[in-house]
Amino acid sequence: MGHEVIRYFDHAATSWPKPPQVIEAMQKAMLDYGANPGRGSHAMAVQASRVIYETRRHLSQLFGVRNPMDVIFTLNTTMALNLAIKGIVRPGDHIVVTGIEHNSVRRPVEYLRRIWNLDVTYIKANRQGVVDLRELEQSFRPHTKLVACSHSSNLLGTILPVGEVGEMTRKRGVKLLVDAAQTAGTIPIDVASMGIDMLAFPGHKGLLGPQGTGGLYIAPDMELEPLLHGGTGSQSDAVEQPGVRPDRYEAGTPNTVGLAGLNEGVKFILNETVEKIHTKEWKLTQRMMDQLRQLPGIELLGPDLGEDKTGIVSFTVKGADNAEIAFRLDREYGIAVRAGYHCTPLAHDAAGTTRTGAVRASVGYTTTEEDVNAFLDAMRDIQTHSK
Ligand SMILES: Cc1ncc(COP(=O)(O)O)c(C=O)c1O
Repeated sequence: MGHEVIRYFDHAATSWPKPPQVIEAMQKAMLDYGANPGRGSHAMAVQASRVIYETRRHLSQLFGVRNPMDVIFTLNTTMALNLAIKGIVRPGDHIVVTGIEHNSVRRPVEYLRRIWNLDVTYIKANRQGVVDLRELEQSFRPHTKLVACSHSSNLLGTILPVGEVGEMTRKRGVKLLVDAAQTAGTIPIDVASMGIDMLAFPGHKGLLGPQGTGGLYIAPDMELEPLLHGGTGSQSDAVEQPGVRPDRYEAGTPNTVGLAGLNEGVKFILNETVEKIHTKEWKLTQRMMDQLRQLPGIELLGPDLGEDKTGIVSFTVKGADNAEIAFRLDREYGIAVRAGYHCTPLAHDAAGTTRTGAVRASVGYTTTEEDVNAFLDAMRDIQTHSK
């Protein structure tokens, strides 16, 4: 890393840096009580279990979950989405998904379509990533089991009005799965009032925890087939996977160290408040958009200036390869952005960037005005010297 200061604009992939208390908690877990939680009754194992429970409790507070045992830990959002989708859908079911989904929703759905002849409806989104809710309302059939939707597009930053979708699914007794990969910790989420039956979230993005953490909230009235079967430290003489949560869905030794870090990330967010985090990130994106749109050849993607969105600013540059822009930002200016296809060909289709891909600069709570200035200066420089 040849640059003294790294300007990190890849928070949508993984947030960085983490609050110092996240790292301290992980170090403490390793040094002081790195035993296997739920697999012993000695003091170290109990301490490990206690910290994991605390993480569940803080996440419940953040998402309006009544019982912390309904929060299941996974390695990332992808695993949570697989648990949700494969756990509920059965051969012949109908499932509705939106036209901006990430491959972590699209691929499991398409896999089930192939092996089980699943009936799948994709709901159109416009260029800005706004999903057609009228079309969604008309898509329900007698055998519709699930609506799976991204709370926000990881390419466009557009926010889906999940509460409205929740009203539609509730009325019809259809389950609602929300992919909160881009919103957990940065946009308010309340599972009860929004009608969310399952919420898949990463620990390593907006919740400021380490990689290898994530989870799935499962409403208490739902029964999913587990994704993994195996040891849970409970009911060891039973042949079947225990029915009790969270054990039913958490076979194998968990990521205690990671969850200890995630606990501190969530506490940090509860302290600061999601509203404050969102406002800060939104203001930063507005400045970036306002300045970028004045540069020749730049086309911004997603919601217009002034509209609500997450901390994502994606764009194409006329006549330039987006991968080269990202490469130059990194090598010449020490600025980390992501380029290419962002694991969401559906959203690229909607935005009209299937052929070009896009540059994505994403901010986080730690992004500063200086970072934004450096990014904008670098873009001006690149645009001037590419003429
Ligand atoms: C909308 C969306 N869904 C799912 C994922 C997958 O998340 P994870 O890397 O935690 O599995 C991402 C990651 O960027 C995402 O943006």
